[in-house]
Amino acid sequence: MSVSKPLPHDAARLHVTGTARYVDDIPTPRDTLHLAFGLSPIAKGNITAMDLEAVRTLPGVVAVLTAEDLPFTNDVSPSIHDEPLLADGTVHYVGQPVFLVVARSHLIARKGATLGKVTYDEQTPILSMDEALAVDSRFEDGPRIYEKGDAEAAIAAAPRVIEGLFEIGGQEHFYLEGQAAMALPNEGGDMLVHSSTQHPTEIQHKVAEAIGMPMHAVRVETRRMGGGFGGKESQGNALAVSCAVAARLTGRACKMRYDRDDDMVVTGKRHEFRIGYRVGFDDTGRIQGVSFLHHTRCGWAQDLSLPVADRAMLHSDNAYLLPNCRIESHRLKTNTQSATAYRGFGGPQGMIGVERVLDHIAHDLGLDPVEVRMRNYYAAPEDMAEGVDNTTPYGMQVEDFELHGMTQALLESSDYAARKAAIDVWNAQNAVIKKGIAFAPVKFGISFTLTHLNQAGALVHVYQDGSVHLNHGGTEMGQGLFQKVAQVAASRFGIGLDAIKITATDTAKVPNTSATAASSGSDLNGMAVQAACDTIRDRMAAFLAERHQADVTSVRFGGGHVEVGEARYTIAEAAALAYQGRISLSATGFYKTPKIEWDRIKGQGRPFFYFAYGASITEVAIDTLTGENRILRADILHDAGESLNPALDVGQVEGGYVQGAGWLTTEELVWDDKGRLRTHAPSTYKIPACSDRPDVFNVALWAGSNREETIYRSKAVGEPPFMLGISAYLALNNAVGACGDAYPALNAPATAEEVWRGVRRVHAGGDNGV
Ligand code: MTE
Ligand code: MOS
Repeated sequence: MSVSKPLPHDAARLHVTGTARYVDDIPTPRDTLHLAFGLSPIAKGNITAMDLEAVRTLPGVVAVLTAEDLPFTNDVSPSIHDEPLLADGTVHYVGQPVFLVVARSHLIARKGATLGKVTYDEQTPILSMDEALAVDSRFEDGPRIYEKGDAEAAIAAAPRVIEGLFEIGGQEHFYLEGQAAMALPNEGGDMLVHSSTQHPTEIQHKVAEAIGMPMHAVRVETRRMGGGFGGKESQGNALAVSCAVAARLTGRACKMRYDRDDDMVVTGKRHEFRIGYRVGFDDTGRIQGVSFLHHTRCGWAQDLSLPVADRAMLHSDNAYLLPNCRIESHRLKTNTQSATAYRGFGGPQGMIGVERVLDHIAHDLGLDPVEVRMRNYYAAPEDMAEGVDNTTPYGMQVEDFELHGMTQALLESSDYAARKAAIDVWNAQNAVIKKGIAFAPVKFGISFTLTHLNQAGALVHVYQDGSVHLNHGGTEMGQGLFQKVAQVAASRFGIGLDAIKITATDTAKVPNTSATAASSGSDLNGMAVQAACDTIRDRMAAFLAERHQADVTSVRFGGGHVEVGEARYTIAEAAALAYQGRISLSATGFYKTPKIEWDRIKGQGRPFFYFAYGASITEVAIDTLTGENRILRADILHDAGESLNPALDVGQVEGGYVQGAGWLTTEELVWDDKGRLRTHAPSTYKIPACSDRPDVFNVALWAGSNREETIYRSKAVGEPPFMLGISAYLALNNAVGACGDAYPALNAPATAEEVWRGVRRVHAGGDNGV
């Protein structure tokens, strides 16, 4: 059976030979036009005049569009229509598209974009969280609050109380392939759009609105992305809509791709957070009550900020049973890029909040941080006594808690106790280079919190020669979804993967899809494809059974054959016979996730079908004189259920960890006091390189299963491993803590500068950031 085999990514060979085709590689029609945005140089103001003459007269420029030239809806927002494609009289951040240049070449379009003379009546922007709080600039009327028990009373009654405050920076997606789209006008005003998007249906929807056509007139195709990481859930809308509008206007193919600097300046990033906490606990480190205050900088438009901030709240417990808990979340509106989805979708920010609390408690009590964590864990299913509370702060019973066993196994395989003792000896003997080690667990909720998004469709054809054409609503961004789903299809028919054709995602084949997001790609689309395959297989089986006067249950698919009693056909023979017998060999499949229900206003329900788990231990070394640091070793045990493809899953775990560690160590976004992003290229923004991965990197999958009925009992694996990187942050905290008695209270990212400052803070006696 193809399922569970560690097969390489279906396009691995194409990727490494540079022949995988991305939007920018699609051969273009001869007279294709190229697009670029003229961007706002200021963070806030009214447009008082626009002189675009120099742009228009630049040789090679075909058209220049402003908001007034847009024929229909001027909006690319995925949520509340607050995001004009082109600025509509006012600008709200540095980098906001103001006008659109349509030219004969990419370079001419870019040149033209610099020639516009736009005058602004400049206003004072709201840039920081403090500035937003001062004038109550926010989304939603007030904070959202989720509560379990009475946190304040529990904290007041607890033997020990600590508090702290820390900053958590945002993160640039840095997908290797930048945002890109191409629109090809068809007869009668129809439009074909190629888009590098995680959400083809959204592109179809926004393009249809922008060109004044029903959705049926717009077809969106996405073969693959060179990485999305959440940054292509909504941020591709502007390019696709621009291309479609320009293609409608000119009757010619239009193409747009951002250069890297534009990509970083124009598009939204991971939400920055500031988390304040107060926790009451006993002398063993058991939490009795905890209160979190989340502030998040959402930027100028709502985009996906509400569900992102919700998910941060929903992960404020991580792996811990909090008997009394209060989470208050403020979604602040600022004159910066509109922060958007990014791997974990707010979960990582919420999770690092409680991990910081556990770390702080262990430091306060002088206990081993792993021990303190395990004392606060949710109960394992086998230890769940009748009527005992094992609920999250949002009222969901945790029924599948795997971390007790996983933690024990990882402590042993990583030789944690001995290494920790050796590090203590090292630190006692070395004044300049200090080492640190830390453990972090992950419990991540799987499902879209917007319940209706948890559905998927598929379309499968079997041709007369037994070959299979596979289509579903998910998109491929490097995570290996297409290969996993192809393995499902191959397993259902009992045939080899070479008989399955993986095809581009296409809104004309599977309609009304959700974004490939929330890690649910294989859960949802795997099930939909299974349903479609089984429909066809059952029809073939019924036909062959009748032909052989056999019972339908005796028909067996496997090894590329179909057996009915004594008869044995190749899949090609069986398909040909079925075709001749006038049996339909094409089917759709549909799936919706069961059991979930969620009220986001009340903060109660079961938003998640199940949880995915992981555990990591990171060891670091820091130079206390310069703050420079390295990850020396990482050990990971990750729960992918019964993995559909262990090779791809290990790849997701390795990549997720490194990306998570990058977020918390080297990746720092810096805006100046005018709201200009100063870190807008790899020269100033440091993502992890190959040489930054841990020297020793032991990654294993937990031999578990999914208690819920998912596709072959696998678990979603796309986002959860990202949060394993939290152990790198905690290890740095641990190393800095070796410089004195005070709690280091590092902010994130713990860059070399922050580590250096942390060492000085500890030397000075510390302040917990409050
Ligand atoms: N892996 C690669 N190589 N590239 C990506 O862009 N995106 C991540 C994760 N892993 C991503 C990735 C994010 S944000 C999500 S939600 C999931 O993949 C989406 O795919 P899945 O649902 O099929 O896991
Ligand atoms: Mo992933 S942030 O859900 O695209």
